[in-house]
Amino acid sequence: MTNASEQDRVLIFDTTLRDGEQSPGATMTHDEKLEIAGLLDDMGVDIIEAGFPIASEGDFRAVSEIAKNSRNSVICGLARANFADIDRCWEAVRNAAKPRIHTFIGTSPLHRAIPNLTMDEMAEKIHETVSHARNLCDNVQWSPMDATRTEWDYLCRVVEIAIKAGATTINIPDTVGYTAPEESATLIRKLIETVPGADEVIFATHCHNDLGMATANALAAVAGGARQIECTVNGLGERAGNTALEEVVMALKVRHDIMPWSTGVDTTKIMHISRRVATVSGFPVQFNKAIVGKNAFAHESGIHQDGMLKNKETFEIMRPEDVGLTGSSLPLGKHSGRAALRDKLKQLGYEVGDNQLKDIFVRFKALADRKKEVYDDDIMALVTVTADPSAERLQIVSLKVLCGTGGPAEATLEMEVDGKDVIATEHGDGPVDATFKAVRAIYPNAARLQLYQVHAVTEGTDAQATVSVRLEEDGMITTGQSADTDTVVASARAYVNALNRLAVRREKAGPGADAREISYKDMS
Ligand code: KIV
Ligand code: ZN
Repeated sequence: MTNASEQDRVLIFDTTLRDGEQSPGATMTHDEKLEIAGLLDDMGVDIIEAGFPIASEGDFRAVSEIAKNSRNSVICGLARANFADIDRCWEAVRNAAKPRIHTFIGTSPLHRAIPNLTMDEMAEKIHETVSHARNLCDNVQWSPMDATRTEWDYLCRVVEIAIKAGATTINIPDTVGYTAPEESATLIRKLIETVPGADEVIFATHCHNDLGMATANALAAVAGGARQIECTVNGLGERAGNTALEEVVMALKVRHDIMPWSTGVDTTKIMHISRRVATVSGFPVQFNKAIVGKNAFAHESGIHQDGMLKNKETFEIMRPEDVGLTGSSLPLGKHSGRAALRDKLKQLGYEVGDNQLKDIFVRFKALADRKKEVYDDDIMALVTVTADPSAERLQIVSLKVLCGTGGPAEATLEMEVDGKDVIATEHGDGPVDATFKAVRAIYPNAARLQLYQVHAVTEGTDAQATVSVRLEEDGMITTGQSADTDTVVASARAYVNALNRLAVRREKAGPGADAREISYKDMS
């Protein structure tokens, strides 16, 4: 029995660390996952899906440690519909203050065909696996993957079986982003109205963004009776991504008049976590992205600027402060000291230790020498690349590039590889090509360049460029990032950063232990 205020509360289930991390190239390190989980817990996210424990040793370790460090959030792990997955998941989450097992199976005709199960056989498997999970943990979530393309009668039947077997949350995934708002609401309403036992469980919605409707579909599902929204920070996720956490939370806050449900999320923490996830995942936020994009609160045209000066509400439906923007972006300069930098970092939400501050300060001074004003975004870009460089196998010592009209570019690169100094000169089709060739001459490797992306962090020709480089080798994908006022230097550092991460992953994974090696066929 729930009271009125519980009925109006929508639980936020964040899956940045599981579904989000599944985006090719968005791999996060162990420490980065712990940091993001801490931020999610702090901001009041109800449930954190911390990973897929059986997928790899790394995933297992991350979920276990997130579980141990958890405070208020429920910590959930994902498991396929088999006992080994479920047992491993339980082992990882069991030390959380509030653990949850999330088990799933593909129920649509296309997904039933892969393991070649009849409807009855699949129903039996659901009964067995959900019962098994419930015997281990009293908080069990079950998902019929590709629910929105499953025959509705069959969906009602299997949801009933899962509830009888002990599931406490029933998640209805729109796995391929196929549904539309009206259908999303109708489907949830039908399940709640017709499935016996539906009033004993919470219905959840999990929407992908293939048609750009994920947030609208999730909110429509809430109108239909769902009380848990699954989402990711910045909408990170497979293909076009998932429902974005910041969008649903702010939509429910700003349009409470027509969507009378609320969440427990502290919205002032949104901007900080968005920036951290962009940094650690290597997926920059598009400039015009709702809520968290660089331009979301920027006003360019004369009419808009004039309106804003007279009354901010003319062109803003929420205050920048509501999502954690200070509104001001006071630049620091080359005369600013360490205390001012520490203060600025604090305002931006970064608590750094003395060693890290020392490192950031050195980089800040170098940047301030080259650039008149150092803006908040510049500082955040500096924090991004202050991982302990001495721990890395490959380090750039110096880089000289000759380029221009009338001939190939030439790059002379000096690097330290496992402590040994090596120099190479290479030619290429432009300065970045020549530099990457020089890196490969010094450190031959089979990694394939999947993505090379450059963004100017702030305005002006002296702006810092952030460069993301995504590499793939034997199914392992890593992303490296760097920022510098020199685009070629940033490119070289980002490339080397991705190679260093690849080396770490190769060492950690050992033979055949990578998450991404789980095939589509196994996802049943
Ligand atoms: O999109 C999906 O169906 C999923 C499930 C595993 C819940 O992510
Ligand atoms: Zn998903």
